[in-house]
Amino acid sequence: MSDDLLDQIAAAGSLQALDAVRVAALGKSGSITAMLKSLGAMDPATRAAEAPKIHALREQISTALAERKTALEDAELDRKLATETIDLSLPVDTGPRGTVHPVSQVMDELAEIFADLGFSVAEGPEIESQWYNFSALNMPENHPARAMQDTFYLEPREGEDEPRVLRTHTSPVQIRTMEKTPPPIRIIAPGRVYRSDSDATHTPMFHQIEGLVIDRAITLGHLKWTLETFLKAFFERNDVAIRMRPSYFPFTEPSAEVDVGYSIENGRRVVGGQDGWMEVLGSGMVHPRVIANCGLDPDEWQGFAFGTGVDRLAMLKYGMDDLRAFFDGDIRWLKHYGFRA
Ligand code: PHE
Repeated sequence: MSDDLLDQIAAAGSLQALDAVRVAALGKSGSITAMLKSLGAMDPATRAAEAPKIHALREQISTALAERKTALEDAELDRKLATETIDLSLPVDTGPRGTVHPVSQVMDELAEIFADLGFSVAEGPEIESQWYNFSALNMPENHPARAMQDTFYLEPREGEDEPRVLRTHTSPVQIRTMEKTPPPIRIIAPGRVYRSDSDATHTPMFHQIEGLVIDRAITLGHLKWTLETFLKAFFERNDVAIRMRPSYFPFTEPSAEVDVGYSIENGRRVVGGQDGWMEVLGSGMVHPRVIANCGLDPDEWQGFAFGTGVDRLAMLKYGMDDLRAFFDGDIRWLKHYGFRA
């Protein structure tokens, strides 16, 4: 019995074959298992004589199985080492790599520029209540200014008196920030905004960045300096000129649209110089009513705010001419304009 099993173990040429021998001997219905079971039916004297022999046999077989297993594993490893080689000098195929989308790139650039000026980044939801998107910004219901922006309204929910909107600008983040942060406040709020509009220079979703400063004795001079400093840093030119034109926004008083000077280089408009002007942002001194809507005393706190299109800034700086291409996800466009991470 024992020699027979030992022969089978020695003859097993693979781990599977060896395991078959193990099951046949020590498995649930294996031969040695059957011998162990038979002990129970023996009279005490026979059992006392047989038990040590059977246990010794099991021990011998287990040991032989374990030794053979190690030997087979070692042989397998030797075979692998002999046949498989790794050439560490081969060039690595990394596969296609992604790039940073120009919008993300520009948002990062802006966050960095404003961080140097002491601004932190604030965020708000893209689905907004009409209070935050309009009313708190001094655009009460039926105010004609609400029609200035082609708003996407959501289906009203149960028990909702007013449908929510996809925010049409990043200005609601002004309100949310003033509500929860005691002044002085210096924030920028980059993010997605939505308007029902689509052509070469408008997409239904686009990106804005809002700026807000609230402190004591803030003036238009601070606004102008901040905008000039940021535009020079962003366009990386010292000859960036700005022009402020009186304008109207319900949430700022006075309000100004800001143009940046451009010149024509190689047939293209580039920012810098003063051959012509193009509008780049909206701005103004935060309306006292907006400050009061956030629970602050407008006699104590003043500030300025501005808002601009991130995609538009990217187009001007990097020379893209169709805004829609930003959101088509065309790999060739992304490869061309994307930034290496
Ligand atoms: N929210 C305005 C817009 O989207 C821009 C703006 C922001 C104007 C802040 C003034 C102050 O048109």
